[in-house]
Amino acid sequence: MPANPRPTMPERVNVLLIGGGGREHALARQIKQSSRLGRLWVDSTANAAILAIGTPCTEPISKPAMFRLNSWCDKEEIGLVVIGPEAPLADGWADDLATENRLVFGPSKAAARIEADKGWAKEIMRSASVPSAEGRTFKDRAPAIAYAMSREEGCVVKASGLAAGKGVFVCPTPEEAVAAVQMMMGDPERRTQGCFGAAGDTIVIEELLQGQEMSVLAFVDGRSIWVLDPCQDHKQVGEGDVGPNTGGMGAYCPTPLATPELMSRIERDILVPTIDGLRREGIIFRGVLYAGLMLTAGGPKVLEYNCRFGDPECQPLMARLQGDLLEVLWATAAGQLDELESGLEFDPRTACCVVLCSAGYPGSITKGHPITGIEAAEAEAGPGEAVIVFHSGTTVDSRDRVVSAGGRVISVTALAADLTSAQDLANRAAAKIEFAGAFFRRDIGSRVMNSIS
Ligand code: AMP
Ligand code: GLY
Repeated sequence: MPANPRPTMPERVNVLLIGGGGREHALARQIKQSSRLGRLWVDSTANAAILAIGTPCTEPISKPAMFRLNSWCDKEEIGLVVIGPEAPLADGWADDLATENRLVFGPSKAAARIEADKGWAKEIMRSASVPSAEGRTFKDRAPAIAYAMSREEGCVVKASGLAAGKGVFVCPTPEEAVAAVQMMMGDPERRTQGCFGAAGDTIVIEELLQGQEMSVLAFVDGRSIWVLDPCQDHKQVGEGDVGPNTGGMGAYCPTPLATPELMSRIERDILVPTIDGLRREGIIFRGVLYAGLMLTAGGPKVLEYNCRFGDPECQPLMARLQGDLLEVLWATAAGQLDELESGLEFDPRTACCVVLCSAGYPGSITKGHPITGIEAAEAEAGPGEAVIVFHSGTTVDSRDRVVSAGGRVISVTALAADLTSAQDLANRAAAKIEFAGAFFRRDIGSRVMNSIS
């Protein structure tokens, strides 16, 4: 927390961007376009595209190296640290790296708990009367199993801690729910450990909600809130929403699900009460608050909160964002969103992002496969359209080739006049990109198109 509550943004700001995936590539690309940027430093372990945009930080970026990283930030006169992923936020890096002369974009450890501890997040929502799925939190196996068995109508079993988007099992039957509890909390009879480690020591079992999902992200500076255009993510690995959950297989923005009335209701009944609920606990949230919502027949309900930009939601959002992202990040971190001269503008076109993944994702995968066709993908855009190829998990190998380096490898983001044409362009562009075992969902956006037509 800066000692001076109303610092002035310097003419030029040196930035350190922490994180190295598709979300951070999208952020880096926008930050790089800012007229206020001094130098952009990035994590030396980031993906190939991020390393091509920024200068690699010479210090390791890790919790044990925080003291040295702080000294390095002083030496390089870093004015703003931007933290992309949830794990460092939950680990308190925003607290560690903020000084009198340096702001951090991303919430404190206390505020990041809204994502890192789903059980606690539920308590905050309950106390603030924020609509969410009815649920109970369990620390012990036996009562969790008994409860799961009693849920004839099905339920959702969630690891309370961080599990890279994979810690949620939607269980239509009690048998599946019991199996999910056993997987997460371990099974002494079979001598198995919980599959998410300590993240599954506490679990949440909640009602299975029906409806369309929507991701609503907002810049929150501790006082003011700026709600961004809503996105829709596609979490399940297979077309038609089948198979296990992933970190996100694709997202588009804006979604026609959101009317202005619905967005006002979400801000008034969900986002603002949550921020107020945190404040009553003495916690000031600064950064991006991400509400994963289910639009049920009874209105929008929260499935989860995240304390950062979504990945892949960030890619279509950043593809559409107009104006100076760096100014917005800085103002959010400084608690000065209200002082920005211009608001946030979005390109009127729709952005559709499809994620090319490695064979086997979200299970085990192999890495190191050369990637081709990126330029051909970008060349698919017609007049008035654009294709941006964001890297998610890539690296450069010893032969100077860009190769796959993760489960989610490339996020192809297409901008076009409407969702149908954005999806079509994204699919055509993604089909141009090849690496061994690559696959992607061709139906990003179809769920809503089918529901409307
Ligand atoms: P979460 O990480 O909590 O957003 O959950 C991942 C995904 O699981 C969500 O995007 C939904 O598709 C699904 N999910 C989570 N909670 C529920 C729920 N209560 N009812 C139905 N589906 C859910
Ligand atoms: N796309 C979902 C997430 O970032 O958690």
